[in-house]
Amino acid sequence: MKPVISISELTKTYPGGLKALDAVNLDVKEGEILALLGPNGAGKTTLISIVCGLVNPSSGSVTVGGHDIISDFRAARSLIGLVPQELHVEAFESVQATVSFSRGLFGKPRNPALVEQILKDLSLWDKRKEKIMALSGGMKRRVMIAKALAHEPRILFLDEPTAGVDVELRKSMWELIGRLRETGVTVILTTHYIEEAENIADRVGVISKGKLLLVEEKTELMRKMGEKILTLNLREPLDALPDGLKEIDLTLEDEGRTLVYRYDTAADRTGIGKLLAELSSAGVGVRDLSTKQSSLEDIFVNLVRDGE
Ligand SMILES: Nc1ncnc2c1ncn2[C@@H]1O[C@H](COP(=O)(O)OP(=O)(O)OP(=O)(O)O)[C@@H](O)[C@H]1O
Ligand SMILES: [Mg+2]
Repeated sequence: MKPVISISELTKTYPGGLKALDAVNLDVKEGEILALLGPNGAGKTTLISIVCGLVNPSSGSVTVGGHDIISDFRAARSLIGLVPQELHVEAFESVQATVSFSRGLFGKPRNPALVEQILKDLSLWDKRKEKIMALSGGMKRRVMIAKALAHEPRILFLDEPTAGVDVELRKSMWELIGRLRETGVTVILTTHYIEEAENIADRVGVISKGKLLLVEEKTELMRKMGEKILTLNLREPLDALPDGLKEIDLTLEDEGRTLVYRYDTAADRTGIGKLLAELSSAGVGVRDLSTKQSSLEDIFVNLVRDGE
């Protein structure tokens, strides 16, 4: 299937010389939820801003639904709903008027039933007549989402949707994103919360210093997360692995004093029983053992550190 967004060799150097994006390549699949993880200043907002036509790229190209974001800006932009990182809403307008107005900005005909549905989905219906300045921060954030959805975009960008949002609202935001996906909307969100990426994303991308370091299926990352390392300290150092152990994926380290075995905690069988039986029949004595599990957090921290 053709990607709904295709980003090729995208680079952005801001006036003053800061390279915020460095040759980023990324295809976004129709209907997926993609989470972009990265530390402050990594380039997440810059990437989103370019795709949405708010910032000019220095080089590279982007298409949205097959439309070039520069030569075919209007067609590309009409497919996108954007919830920016910074909240800026018309303080004196009512919730309902703001959301209806946003739809009009894209040249779409009025559709009160649709606006009603969006407000209900976001639990804003009771607040529809309130002025936005009278709402709490979390409610304002929901209004931003309602505004972004008013013109029925196929793609929704959420830049830090849950920063500063309480646990309950965060969960309801995740549910909303899940429901949107069911209607076929592609969702790209940025987050600092690894837990958030774990909970809702189909794929996770990691950005650091303007470089996209990895994009991977979440289940694949979870598999890596599920990796455990068993370290066995041997009584006597080994020169080489005994024959019976050669079929097992083991490494001999520390001048033969340590055996390291990596296994998948998610698998039906860890293979530890077989390993210990083989060790015993080969007459290899174990003095001590320990296990360590890698987490998505470890993977993320290592990636970002290695990128430096
Ligand atoms: N308009 C601008 N002019 C100059 N530099 C900018 C501009 N906007 C962003 N930058 C710089 O570009 C880099 C990337 O910023 P960006 O906002 O894209 O990061 P981010 O990943 O969204 O960070 P955060 O997690 O803090 O939101 C930063 O070093 C930032 O200071
Ligand atoms: Mg940002």
